[in-house]
Amino acid sequence: MPATDSSARGATIIGWGSYLPPKVLTNHDLERMVDTSDEWIVERSGIRERHVDGTTIGMSIEAGRAAIQSSGLSPADIDALIIATTTPDKQWGNAATVQDALGMRCGVFEINAACSGFVYSLVAAHGLIAMGATNVLVIGADSLSKITDWNDRNTAVLFGDGAGAVVLQSCDGPGELVAWDLDADGSAGPILWADVGGYIQMEGKEVFRRAVRIMVDSANKVLHHAGVSGDDIALLVPHQANIRIIQAACDRLGVDMDRTAVVLDRMGNTSAASIPLALDDALTKGRIAPGDLVLLVGFGGGMT
Ligand code: COA
Repeated sequence: MPATDSSARGATIIGWGSYLPPKVLTNHDLERMVDTSDEWIVERSGIRERHVDGTTIGMSIEAGRAAIQSSGLSPADIDALIIATTTPDKQWGNAATVQDALGMRCGVFEINAACSGFVYSLVAAHGLIAMGATNVLVIGADSLSKITDWNDRNTAVLFGDGAGAVVLQSCDGPGELVAWDLDADGSAGPILWADVGGYIQMEGKEVFRRAVRIMVDSANKVLHHAGVSGDDIALLVPHQANIRIIQAACDRLGVDMDRTAVVLDRMGNTSAASIPLALDDALTKGRIAPGDLVLLVGFGGGMT
């Protein structure tokens, strides 16, 4: 069911926040670790630096706290917590630890849809609201630095750590999440994967090709379900993997780069955190006004 059911209770984003761990690793730092150059990394990916050595739980607590504070609610008002992550610190109980640290009492769970995890979680949160929840905290957090092989130049230059969060609240009427599309293609799993306890592995070129195609496909589906076109989008907030992937997708969608949120130069690819980090940056800079249509679109391992 791709378009939001207009008879279901609607939801709106009322708060947001983010967190980046303090340690910054620049491209020049990487030059001392693997056979690469700042010039190569910037030209091929658009990334200049990334934050590392974060923990998924620690970053989630900070981003979650900021989002609750910006919503004007207190932790006791939150009815459910969802954390999107592909790098949990513990086998289970990550979201529960965050809940306890923030002083919440509510149902909690984790969603792993790799770099698409935040958009999957937003849709799941909307489902909880349709079933009666009032306030849901959604956090996207990943500490990819712990599953990155820092001796492998194919992957080491791309990834970083961070967390972003939003508070979703029920509202009268259809709400502000007007359409959605979730999809996955398990046959493409072998081009981007990590074994439990292992490092990120990928076929970069093939991931690149598919990423552009599936972002454009999914974005077009959602535009169609919403009954709008690329021209109507005030801001595109794409998964932050590679500036060339974003540019290629924008070209095909007819959305110019002025209407696109980009933070990857400062953060690299932070997986499930990348979309809420870019959204937080755009909201904080006043790039989104009430009533603006915003299109969030991600892709990730799985492939989701
Ligand atoms: N520094 C310098 N040279 C590098 C390098 C690095 N960090 N990594 C690879 N190279 C070399 C390659 O070995 C290759 O050398 P060769 O021509 O002698 O064989 C050359 O640079 C070109 O590599 P190529 O793989 O063709 O580069 P590319 O333009 O495809 O860019 C990626 C590589 C990984 C940046 C790009 O394919 C990409 O971003 N893919 C998507 C990855 C992704 O987003 N993953 C996460 C998805 S959620």
